[in-house]
Amino acid sequence: MTPSMTRRLPAPSVRRAGRIVLMVIAVLYAPLAMSYMWFAFVADAPQWQQAITAAINGAEYTSGAGSISSIRRVDYLDNTWVLLLHTVLGGLALILAVHQLSARRRRRSLVEHRWVGRIYVGLMTISMGAALVFLVRGGTADYLGGNAMYLQLWSLDLSTLASGFIAIWAIRRRDVITHQAWMYLNFAFMMTAPLLRAVWILLAPLFPHHSLLDNVDMGSSMLGVLAPGGAAIAVQLSLRSRHDDAAVRAAASTYVWLLAVAAGSVGLLALRVDQASAVVPAGVLWIPLGCSVAYTASCLCGVRGARRARDAALELRWRWLAWGAAIAPLGVVMVHLASAILWGYPVGMIAALMVGFSGPIAVSFTLVVARIGAPLNFTSPAGPLGHTMRSGRA
Ligand code: HEM
Repeated sequence: MTPSMTRRLPAPSVRRAGRIVLMVIAVLYAPLAMSYMWFAFVADAPQWQQAITAAINGAEYTSGAGSISSIRRVDYLDNTWVLLLHTVLGGLALILAVHQLSARRRRRSLVEHRWVGRIYVGLMTISMGAALVFLVRGGTADYLGGNAMYLQLWSLDLSTLASGFIAIWAIRRRDVITHQAWMYLNFAFMMTAPLLRAVWILLAPLFPHHSLLDNVDMGSSMLGVLAPGGAAIAVQLSLRSRHDDAAVRAAASTYVWLLAVAAGSVGLLALRVDQASAVVPAGVLWIPLGCSVAYTASCLCGVRGARRARDAALELRWRWLAWGAAIAPLGVVMVHLASAILWGYPVGMIAALMVGFSGPIAVSFTLVVARIGAPLNFTSPAGPLGHTMRSGRA
């Protein structure tokens, strides 16, 4: 590794710490999810998720007016088996996903990786299928963001299934890099479950006027940026790349355009968001927009690191991701043009923030992965563009 590459990437310990934190969150959350519906079968079954939320945020926030329980408990009791399947199998799938992402275990046994992977896909598919059944039977929840949340849950569910099946399709073509990239995205989507709970528990003290449902709206929109954006960054960090003095880098004017588009699209969205602020709490509107700006800044930091390292291929990929990030707020504006007609200006804005960012980010992710992926020759660790994975082959 050249000195410039060492500067460009976060230290391995930082990357490793990030991965470990996510894995710990997944493993700690799994029992809370798996036990979520036991109360419907056994009267004094533990309700750990509720108990933790109540201990940190108080009983009124957890189950009073403005909580999920206050609007959904009856629907949950009408669909006990469906939600039991969703939560228990979803929790088990999360634990298996953690196992699959461990490079050490993968290197130790590919046979184990394949079998655990098959079980994971089965559990994930049934869990997501059960969630779809619940959505069809339960309909929209009765609160301000009910329609928005309904739209996002459908799109999250279908995206989770699609990313998992694209990853399977890729590995059947022996395209390891594409397989790993789509599995990162699939894991990111599955992690929205624990991360949403982390947002509504840990960020609540910062927004004392928000109800739990306000924080559900805010967290869901934040994760609409952070899940696909986090997966895109993880893909970039998982690839080794090459210092190449001869390669042509993009002209600086490209980035002036990029910044102008990013500023224009954030500005346009900010104007529209502002008009919804009389009805929707400020945090629900502005924090997701802040996440989008932070993701754009991360991609531009990636560009800067790649330029310093004179790595044109890496710079190109960061640039595509940066364009996706820059256009993402425009995606929200476009969705809002339609959702405002359906549900009115403020509720339409909640829906647009929940689903609008992810489209451009996912398109740029797909372009990047399509560029790096190709069927690998299993006797050679290098991909067609000289890419190899840091973690070794799947
Ligand atoms: C990633 C895609 C996922 C989708 C699309 C999804 C979908 C859903 C849906 C539709 C509901 C009912 C929401 C409502 O009240 O309207 C729900 C609730 C729930 N889901 Fe998921 N889910 C996903 C991932 C997961 C995972 C991986 C777990 C477990 C590890 C999980 C655990 C739960 C729990 C515990 C509830 C009960 C609601 C609450 O926490 O108060 N979900 N999910």
